[in-house]
Order: sequence, then structure tokens, then C-alpha cells
Amino acid sequence: MQLSGLEMRILSEVKKDRWYTPEEAEEETGMSRDAIVRGVYSLREKGLVELDEMERISYELTEEGKEVVENGLPEERVYRFIEEKGEVNIREISKKFSDEVARISLGWLKRKNSIEIRDGKVIPIRYPGTEEIDGLKKVMSGESLNNELFAVLKKRGFIEERKAKELRFRITADVELEKEDLIGDLNPSILLRKSWKGKKFLGYDARIPSFVIYGGKIHPYQRIIKEVRKIFLEMGFTEIKGEYVQTAFWNFDALFQPQDHPARDMQDTFYLREKVEIPRDIALRVGEVHETGGMTGSTGWGGKWDIETAKQLVLRTHTTALTIHYLAMNPEPPVKAFCIDRVYRRESIDATHLPEFDQIEGVVMARNVGFVHLLGTLKEFYMRMGFEVRFRPGFFPYTEPSVEAEVYVPELGWIELGGAGVFRKEVTEPLGIKHRVLAWGLGLGRLAMLKLGLKDLRALYQPDIHWLREVPVCLW
Ligand code: PHE
Repeated sequence: MQLSGLEMRILSEVKKDRWYTPEEAEEETGMSRDAIVRGVYSLREKGLVELDEMERISYELTEEGKEVVENGLPEERVYRFIEEKGEVNIREISKKFSDEVARISLGWLKRKNSIEIRDGKVIPIRYPGTEEIDGLKKVMSGESLNNELFAVLKKRGFIEERKAKELRFRITADVELEKEDLIGDLNPSILLRKSWKGKKFLGYDARIPSFVIYGGKIHPYQRIIKEVRKIFLEMGFTEIKGEYVQTAFWNFDALFQPQDHPARDMQDTFYLREKVEIPRDIALRVGEVHETGGMTGSTGWGGKWDIETAKQLVLRTHTTALTIHYLAMNPEPPVKAFCIDRVYRRESIDATHLPEFDQIEGVVMARNVGFVHLLGTLKEFYMRMGFEVRFRPGFFPYTEPSVEAEVYVPELGWIELGGAGVFRKEVTEPLGIKHRVLAWGLGLGRLAMLKLGLKDLRALYQPDIHWLREVPVCLW
């Protein structure tokens, strides 16, 4: 029988008739795990080794499971609401939460005998049990739990299976080692010394499983950011950058957003304590347009425009604050600029909302451009990203006409991804911009979610090593 050096080494260094995992054999022989696995598979082909391949199943918490451990079960929240009210209509619960949360929670509350439903009214009886949470904590620490609870956790999507292959082997036969020294791995010294001369090479067996090697790679979200940047650069745009902290003036006023606009509310925007000075001439011109329309032919918003309000510092709520400032500093055509950057809004965190997220902002200012060029530019961008886009009428205080861009995703349908429009005269004139400006602000997180097939925006920021390893470098 012909044996390779590797096979001979395994046969001579690993004890006969004892089960080994590759790790144990590694420890005993000092050979690498990968080499051992390769060797034992080829020894099996020769009938010298018995192999036992098992699939080991382990369980891990899903995103939803982790959230439940952190914030409690949805039915707890719903129950507290019901208890507070004494008794409530099912409709009211749907309104307060969502239809889905209401339906699922009421189902569990009934099953847990926590409520009674009479004539469409929900009556609280007792606080729902939370054994799911204890169960999840056990799963996290690797403790075992009873089958019934386990099934519930699986059914509710709180845990998911992970499969791993486990291998054991046993050397079964003594062989007269016929010493034929085959070359297994070619290395530089064999080549340099020409010691391959007169020797045979060990054939490769492509059926032998090998270990998956996860190479280092750029984070998928970063990769998508790079892709977006490349597309705009290739389309002839210049990338601009700016400060996270902006004055309300550039974030709102210069964009003809009235000073009593709800988006400027403390509820929606993060304000800083400080104020700073703003360019007075520009500010007064902008203020006049707010009050009376100035020279633009518009009637403005009426009322009094307050320069102090415009000096207030905010965490920028959109990257339009950067493009408008850039245009004011560069009022001569042509301008084609974009930025990909972080913005901040007061949002409660859930699967599709985060208080910080990234936008893809862009402007085109040139002689003789118009609405169709805007639609064409966005269409081109999304096409290069691999999406089909369509437009719906939209509204922004600073653009007319305005549109919302939606992309088509199989199974999900049309998903809204951002806004765009042609800047109004009320925006451009006080800044001395004489030509039409096409502008857009698109969501990057959602786009990334769709490209990566994620269901939860938060997943983009979580260090989930399994996902990071397995997510393909080349998407589609
Ligand atoms: N700033 C808008 C947003 O954050 C998007 C937008 C940008 C709309 C430019 C029109 C023009 O949603």
C-alpha cells in the first residue's frame, strides 16, 4: 500500500483503536488540524481509519431574542397598557402599538390567562409570566431547558439553530508500512534542491472536506459606502464634507423651512446649548424671504423671522445643510457635489429607525438643467446600485417639484428610499444662486439593508461575527 508522509505520520503518532477529534490529535502530535483532517479522510479511503461525522446543533439568540432579554416581552408592554386603562378596546391597543404587536401580544396574553376578552374589550387578570426570558438567559449561558419552553422560544423566533460539523476518527488497522515517500505538499525547498526528482506526488482528493477560511474583509456597510462614492465620482461629482454641528440657519432657515416647522421641534431635533454668529448679509436676505418673499415673487411664510433662532446650534438633521452651504459659497455653475454622511434625529430605536443614520446627498447646479435631469441622475445611480427606481410626488419646504424615490425589491415590493426635488427660488435667490439646482437626500442604511438582505437596521452596527464572516464580499 502506498502511503504519503502525512498518512504515515498520523498512523505512527496517533494511538490505534481510540476515538480522536482533530483537536485532540493536534494536541497529541503537534500536526496542524487541517493536515490531520486531510490525512484521516485519505486514510479512510484506504480502509485504515473509521470516521464519524456528526452534525452538532447549537442555539443562539436572534436579534429579537436579544431585544426581549433587554426590554422584556411585547405582551408585558401591552399588558401594562391594558392594566393602566382598566379595560380597553382591541382597536385602541392596535393604535397604541401596531396591528402586529397587538395581535401577537393578545394571543400570548390569552394563552397565559392574563386577560379576558369580552365584547371586543380586553380585561386584565394577571401579569403575564416571563419564563421565556429565563429560558433565553439559559440559552445564552449554555444551560439546558425543558422541551416545551424550548419549542416556544423557537416558535416565537427568539432563538435560532446553528449547525456545526464535528468529526471524530479512529485508526482501525495495523499496516505494514510500505515506505514509499510521496511528496504531499510542494514547498520552495523541494523546488530549490530539486529533491522532487525521481519521486512521486500524492494525488489530491477533491472530495475531502476542508475548513472554511474566513479572510479579513471590509465591513459590508463600509463596502456599500465605497460603492456609492465610486458611482458618484464616476458620474463626475465632487465629494464634500462638513461639520456634524450646524447652525439652525444652514440646517433649516437657508432651506426655507419656517421657524415654526414641526421638524425643528425639540422632539425631532437635537439642539446644543450654544449659539454662534452667522453671516449677517445672507441671513437678512434669507429672513426677508421668510417674512415677505422678498424679490422672489413668493409671499413668504409671513410673520416675523428671528435671527436669534437661526443662530442656534443643532446636530444636523440632514446633509442638505452641507450642500446648501456649499452652493452658497460656490454660486457659479456648474456644481456637481455629493456627500455621504451621518445625520441625527430624535427617533426611538427600532428595526427601521435609529437616532443617527447616514444620508447620500447630492446637488447639480448648471445652466439648462431641470426636473427630468434630476430623475435621470437618480435613475442612473440606483441602476448602478442594482435597483429599479420609480418616483412618487413628495413634499419638502425647499423643493418644487418634489419627489420620493422608491426601489423595487422582490418579495417586499416598492420601498421608499429618499427625497429629491428642484430647489425653490426662495432657497436659491437669497444665496445669489442664479440657476436651477437639482437636489436629493437618500437613505443609505435602508439601501444597505436591502442589498444585504437584512431585516433590521441595527444589524448593520452590531458586531455579529457569524454574519460578518459569512456575508459574501460580492453581493449581486
Ligand atoms: N433633506 C431631505 C430629507 O432628509 C431629503 C431631500 C434632500 C429632499 C434634497 C429634497 C432635496 O429627507
